[in-house]
Order: sequence, then C-alpha cells, then structure tokens
Amino acid sequence: MNDKSIGVFDSGLGGLTAVKQIMRELPNENIIYFGDTGRVPYGTRSKETILKYTRSDIRFLKTFDVKIIVIACGTASSAALPMIKDEFDIPIVGVIDAAVYAAVRATKNKKIGVIGTSGTIKSGEYEKQIKQYDETMQVFSRECPMFVPLVENGYFDTPVTEMIVQEYLEEIRARGVDTLILGCTHYPLLEKVISKYMGSDVTLINSGAEVAKYLKKKLDADNAHSKKTDENQYRYYVSDDVSSFEQLGGIFLEREINGQVNKIDIEQY
Ligand code: DGL
Repeated sequence: MNDKSIGVFDSGLGGLTAVKQIMRELPNENIIYFGDTGRVPYGTRSKETILKYTRSDIRFLKTFDVKIIVIACGTASSAALPMIKDEFDIPIVGVIDAAVYAAVRATKNKKIGVIGTSGTIKSGEYEKQIKQYDETMQVFSRECPMFVPLVENGYFDTPVTEMIVQEYLEEIRARGVDTLILGCTHYPLLEKVISKYMGSDVTLINSGAEVAKYLKKKLDADNAHSKKTDENQYRYYVSDDVSSFEQLGGIFLEREINGQVNKIDIEQY
C-alpha cells in the first residue's frame, strides 16, 4: 500500500483524458495534475525545448512527494521520456507503450493509423514500437498541428472542427486502417467528430485512457494502491489563466473543479 499521490502532467487540457480514466479505474487514488497552459503547445517545439519543459514539469510534481508520475502527453512521452527516464529517482510512465499495446491487439487487417503532434510524429516512436510487435504491420502517420489549439479553445464539435478533421484524416481513411491511435492526449476531446469521419468500424485508441489502464496494472503489480483519499483528493495546477482551465476542464471531466485549480510559476522549477 502507498497513500502518496499520483502526479500527472500535460501541456494543457489533454492530460485530463488520462485523469478522467484514472478517476474511474482507481477511485481511491489522490491525483495532482499539472497543465502547462502557459507554454502549450509542446508539439511544435524543438526537441531541446520539449526536454527542458518535461524536466521542469517532473521537478514541479516531485515537490509533492508523489509515488509515480504519468506523462499524459504524447509529445513529451515520445520526444523526451526515452532520454530522461533514468535521470529521476521515481517511476515515470508515458502514453506510447500503453497505446501501442492496445492498438496491436485491436487491429485485424494490420493497418494502423497514428495521429499526433509534429513532435510526436517526427520522433517515429509509435511506428517503431508497433513494428517491434509485428514488422508486417502497416503504419500510416499524420501530424495534426491544428487539433491542439482547437481543443484548448473549446472547439470540440463545431463545423470548423469537422473541416479540419477531414483535411487531416482523408488520406489515412483512404488507406483503409481499421485502428487509429489518437497519439496526442488532446485528441480524445475531438473523438466525436473524428469517429464520425472515420466510421464506426474503425477503432479509436485513446492514449490517455490506455495509460490509466496500464497504471492500474502497475499499481497492482507493485502493491502500491492508496487506501485512503485526502481531503483534497484532486488538485490541479496550471501555468496560465485559471478560469478557462476550470471551465473547459470541468466540462470535460464532468465535475466541478472551480476552486481546485491554482496557478504556479513553472519557470522556477
Ligand atoms: N497533449 C499533448 C500530446 O499528447 C501535447 C500537445 C501539445 O502541447 O502540442 O502530445
């Protein structure tokens, strides 16, 4: 048993797709979430910048003496985690392994689509890991840089969203994939529009939700579950405006988070 909190971070709202699932799968756990809203997006930045941001996000969460850190960000998981995982004396898990594990089990025709930020797609990490499972798998990748700003501005399901989804996904759909990895944790917030465009026979893999399932297995294996919840079971921190995060995050999590979000200066970490 381990009553310490779980630390989760992302560049903004996207990591809440993992948090939502962690709340469901692990109702006794305490969660500290950091959304780096002052520096979003990560996906268009250089590798050096993504490394720098990832290190400071981890240092911030470590100030709470958390038991594990979940990088609920496809960009930081692919472009930074492989390089930094041995720098910290704490278990750190990213979203790539869990999403790949789910996708290779879901596909029947061995054609998998991967969408993510520019940083994620350029890293080639999803493709590499899928081929490690089975090198006959065909992988079709596409960066979708406009999806994150759509989400951060609350354009979850609008005609503009539909147009951009069509623009980005046309080619992948034409390839006949039966499984599509939403390789950025922001994208499940656009799931309705993406699913409508891809059709009901295409399985969408939600990388945030998959990492939550993986986390549950890991806590089981390590016997590290929490048996009591804190008075403030869920705490949220951001590096920019609190009110828009409270509003959009609350809608997405389907729970009131007003008053639980605090602003910090991430440059200090
Ligand atoms: N949600 C993140 C990801 O999974 C970050 C997106 C961004 O900041 O560009 O890649």
